[in-house]
Amino acid sequence: MCYRGLSLLLLLLTALGAAVCQQQPQQQPQAGPTPGISQSAAATDGGASSAPFGASSEPSGQFGLAASIGSPAGEPRLQFQGTATVAYSPDPLTPYQAVGLGCGLGFVSPTFQTNYVGVSSEYFDDAQACGRCITLQCDDQSCAEPGKELPALVVDVCGSCSGSDLSIAIPLFKNLTGREAGSNPSIVVSWDLISCAPYTVGTIKMLVKAGGSAFFQAFGFSNYVVPIAQVQVNGTRLQQGSDGFYSYNPGSPIDPSAPLAVALLGANREVLRATVPSLRSADLGFQFTPQA
Ligand SMILES: *[C@@H]1O[C@H](CO)[C@@H](O)[C@H](O)[C@H]1NC(C)=O
Ligand SMILES: *[C@@H]1O[C@H](CO)[C@@H](O)[C@H](O)[C@H]1NC(C)=O
Repeated sequence: MCYRGLSLLLLLLTALGAAVCQQQPQQQPQAGPTPGISQSAAATDGGASSAPFGASSEPSGQFGLAASIGSPAGEPRLQFQGTATVAYSPDPLTPYQAVGLGCGLGFVSPTFQTNYVGVSSEYFDDAQACGRCITLQCDDQSCAEPGKELPALVVDVCGSCSGSDLSIAIPLFKNLTGREAGSNPSIVVSWDLISCAPYTVGTIKMLVKAGGSAFFQAFGFSNYVVPIAQVQVNGTRLQQGSDGFYSYNPGSPIDPSAPLAVALLGANREVLRATVPSLRSADLGFQFTPQA
């Protein structure tokens, strides 16, 4: 495996932020029900990938747009109930560790380096859940403060979870319960989606996955406060894999020293654009505007 390359790229990711030329965010016109990133981008897209951004790539299921708006007042706010079982490292999550988890996130804001979870494959939804934020409430009698609530970031799929169960980081477990996991590592919890905006620091990062070639590269995105609905590189719409990474195979050889035009469409229909000077991980220097 290429872990050495990967960690070098992670270092570059932080180092190269200043090298990105950022352009002003552009608001997507509210023209129709299935917006693409732009007409001109779609025109150079070719074939099936030129199809406008459709329902299939919108966040769906429990992590859909409707769910992210929140429950109507008067209803129980934490709509998912399950068992949270302690997992992962006792120390804060490093970028290296985060990339190795199911979402492949290359950057995690400080709050979430201790407060992170994995969700069942059903809720993981082929990585649609990645980078979403939840609020997690302890409903367990073993908690020092039942009802205590903390925010957390979805960074992984939990293979042993089903339904609304979670795997939760050790520091988060300790903070939520006021105790060590010990011989009682599971608690009853309820949780719901929240905006990441109050906890996420800084701008969106792009990670170039190690192991790419002149014909295939994969890009990961992290630290977004609005879910990403679509990614385009040089006008080509990328497909997201179940590992969270977006595949780029333009058909002609990729020149690693050439600039890349990156465009992200948010679930809020905001379009953000940046030019990355070459094929390297970078801080994109922009962030979505969270919904009020
Ligand atoms: C527990 O969580 C709160 C709220 O996020 C945070 O301010 C505090 O530092 C955490 N405590 C520990 C021990 O991590
Ligand atoms: C992306 O587009 C730029 C500008 O048109 C071009 O110079 C570059 O070679 C393209 N990069 C890739 C990897 O196709």
